[in-house]
Amino acid sequence: MSERTTFPTQGRARDELAATLERMRSGDADWRHGRVPLYVFGSLPEVEAVGRDAYAAYFTENALGARRAFASLARMESDVIAMSLDLFHAPADAAGSMTSGGSESILLAVKACRDHARVRRGDDGFRGNLVLPETAHPAFDKAARLMDLPVRRVPVGADLRADPGAMAAAIDGDTMLLVGSVPCFPFGVIDPISQLSELALSRGLWLHVDACVGGYLAPFARAAGSAVPAFDFSLPGVASLSADLHKFGFCPKPASVVLFRDQARAEAAGFDLDVWPSGRFRTGTLVGTRPGGAVAGAWAVLNYLGRDGYTAIASRLIAMRKAYVEGIEAIAPLKVFGKPDLTIFAFGAPGLDIAAIAQAMASRGWVPGMTSRPPGMHMMASLLHEGVRADYLADLTAAVAAAPRVEVQRVGAEY
Ligand SMILES: Cc1ncc(COP(=O)(O)O)c(C=O)c1O
Repeated sequence: MSERTTFPTQGRARDELAATLERMRSGDADWRHGRVPLYVFGSLPEVEAVGRDAYAAYFTENALGARRAFASLARMESDVIAMSLDLFHAPADAAGSMTSGGSESILLAVKACRDHARVRRGDDGFRGNLVLPETAHPAFDKAARLMDLPVRRVPVGADLRADPGAMAAAIDGDTMLLVGSVPCFPFGVIDPISQLSELALSRGLWLHVDACVGGYLAPFARAAGSAVPAFDFSLPGVASLSADLHKFGFCPKPASVVLFRDQARAEAAGFDLDVWPSGRFRTGTLVGTRPGGAVAGAWAVLNYLGRDGYTAIASRLIAMRKAYVEGIEAIAPLKVFGKPDLTIFAFGAPGLDIAAIAQAMASRGWVPGMTSRPPGMHMMASLLHEGVRADYLADLTAAVAAAPRVEVQRVGAEY
């Protein structure tokens, strides 16, 4: 076992710390050159600089105090929410919050749905179930575990998209929430949100659209000519929607939005209590203290890029995804799973030892993204991956050629 680090007695000089940080990071995966297929998102160097400058300018401010002390942050947060409501065609009464990421946005949507259902049913102890496609993000299960709610994961169709018929069959009198993803993380396909919206309306259920990955990309991919179906509040059954600014919004982490069709639903996400000597405690989010930098960074990046800037990036991203998919399918026997809609894709082939391919890619400096069912490799590509496509495909070709053919496929890494 390695020895535990002790708390330093004396401080160290700034220069020395900066040099140490550089040295420590030299052992990390080379994400700036596209070696990491998730976790980080790149657009244009200027966008990163705009986000970083705004973040640094609000490095110390705390968005928890936006209402009382930092009017500028309150203004920026309300602008980010308003711009997002506009982008997602929300009705006039809609509202939302900025959060620390997709998981918190999803948790708040589940909590709002539960509390809203409790009020509607007049039952404070109601524990309604969640019906999800099996490709939905585990953040829904995390939320459900925290709130002790049952989850029903439903198999997806042959096209790897949510199957509205199978989801309808999983609904019972205690179902309160349906989920669709735009797109789902494992395969990058967009679920049939308009059919889920109809299902939600016909059964009186809450539909949450998890656009954490695709929210700030899908509308611009459509503007750039891709066939992206309607997925937002323009569909009347959509009750809430999450979209991560810190993914394809290209804003500094941590930043996401959770949006609700109306005030009553938005209020059900919040927390408001007066139980301690310091008075009333009211938050719209799960966390208390929130980085002011993330609010300022998001505000600056959205304003810097605007619809035109995002559309130009989306156009490059979609062209890049098509080129990756073509290149991968040119390596026999690899096939891309389903028909990816944006820039997430996964691929594999029966009888290939995926773990061996992943290991070979890792030995060439690539952090391998993985799927387990079916066994495959995975990528959530941003512009960080644009320039390294030829290198990736060359290494993948070599890795596939050397991989053993097996009867039982082994899968690679875990998340
Ligand atoms: C579809 C989807 N939803 C939710 C999340 C969770 O987001 P976060 O990691 O910001 O909590 C992710 C993360 O990749 C995701 O892909």
